[in-house]
Amino acid sequence: MTPAHVPLGSFELSDPEFWLRPREEREGAFLTLRREQPVSWSDEWEFEGSPFPKGPGYWSLASHEDVWHVSRNPQLFSSGRGVNIGDMPIEISEFFGSMIAMDDPKHFRLRSIVSKGFTPKEIARVEDYVRQKAAAVVDRLLEQFPERECDFVAEVAAPMPLQIICEMMGIPPEDEERVFRWTNVILGVGDPEYAGTFEELMMVAMEIYQYAQALGEDRLKNPKDDLTSIMMHAEVDGERLTAQEFGSFFILLVVAGNETTRTAVSHGMHLLTQHPDQRDLWWNNWDAHTRTAVDEIVRYATPVVHFRRTATEDTVVGGQKIEAGQKLVMWYCSANRDDTVFTDPYRFDITRTLQPAQVGFGAGGPHFCLGANLARREIAVMFDELRRRMPTIHTVGEPDYLQSAFINGIKRLRCAW
Ligand code: HEM
Repeated sequence: MTPAHVPLGSFELSDPEFWLRPREEREGAFLTLRREQPVSWSDEWEFEGSPFPKGPGYWSLASHEDVWHVSRNPQLFSSGRGVNIGDMPIEISEFFGSMIAMDDPKHFRLRSIVSKGFTPKEIARVEDYVRQKAAAVVDRLLEQFPERECDFVAEVAAPMPLQIICEMMGIPPEDEERVFRWTNVILGVGDPEYAGTFEELMMVAMEIYQYAQALGEDRLKNPKDDLTSIMMHAEVDGERLTAQEFGSFFILLVVAGNETTRTAVSHGMHLLTQHPDQRDLWWNNWDAHTRTAVDEIVRYATPVVHFRRTATEDTVVGGQKIEAGQKLVMWYCSANRDDTVFTDPYRFDITRTLQPAQVGFGAGGPHFCLGANLARREIAVMFDELRRRMPTIHTVGEPDYLQSAFINGIKRLRCAW
């Protein structure tokens, strides 16, 4: 892909329409920012129906260096005042975001509890399950689509991550459909197809929350071999999670573990279709390239487009004075195209050595994606099943993208084999 020429002054990152512009133009806009104004001021917009007042604006960080710096200095750049652009009352952002919207020591306490579910031992435990689920997805494709064509997102990319996180949490299969609908509403905010009113969003959140509380209480009484039981029984400094903390955690996990991985797998399939040389290289020499190929998919796709921090004191970022209380948005999508770090950044190259520089899972610091290794396994195993059993699978036409400044989502994408 070649970014278009998009001069300063011809775009606004806060404009929802910006996120509908062709990819080349959006890439071009961020390229212009990195070259000419790596730290730039963006005004916020008023959104119809939002119960919250219009925010005061934010600093947009486009360069890898600045995103890296802000992510790794949590004392100076707080998560506890919100991690998305718009401001919400702190209780609401903690309700939706749990520890992702907290600073240490609160964050550390919660992360210590949930990390127990993401130890290498736990990941190894779910590994067999990941393999079974990926195999079942492919079985279904082969059995139920004699015309050898279907929607890749609905049939391939979406089911697996959802089933894995539900399995880890101990959610029964008959409830998966509900969880899927909930996560779509939460992350689809901004896209007219999914996001209804703010009331609808809060209603969905309450539904998840009640569901989580019932599940948590059940596991407190009847512990099983799942993450919910581990979390409900874990103690840090003699304290257990409250039902409310568990409810928010549940929202964070089902949302964070689902759409992100689905997005990476969907982009991955499309990228491999557009770059048959890279696909042949990987699929013919699987073990040699899997580690780098998976991270290149995550870099190229950058499923999570941004997170935000708030300055706790006056400081300077990239030569720009930042005042205490001002918001800074880390545009991961731009940092992942920075040519001071990635040679020829618009080229999809499965042999790049990327770790730790690619920022698709965050740019380091206390909030670095807890599920990164699980997500890497899921992506690798899904493509392994596809390559072995459906080696001709490819996407057809262009993806139907989600309109969002937060998730680089794909709603629909035809595939054939
Ligand atoms: C390709 C898939 C994924 C991507 C691109 C992704 C991306 C991210 C990013 C960018 C962050 C914020 C990092 C920061 O602020 O420094 C994050 C945090 C997080 N992710 Fe992921 N993620 C993925 C998959 C998963 C999965 C599968 C899970 C769990 C099942 C998960 C659980 C979490 C949690 C719990 C956090 C919050 C960590 C904290 O605040 O300490 N993620 N992820």
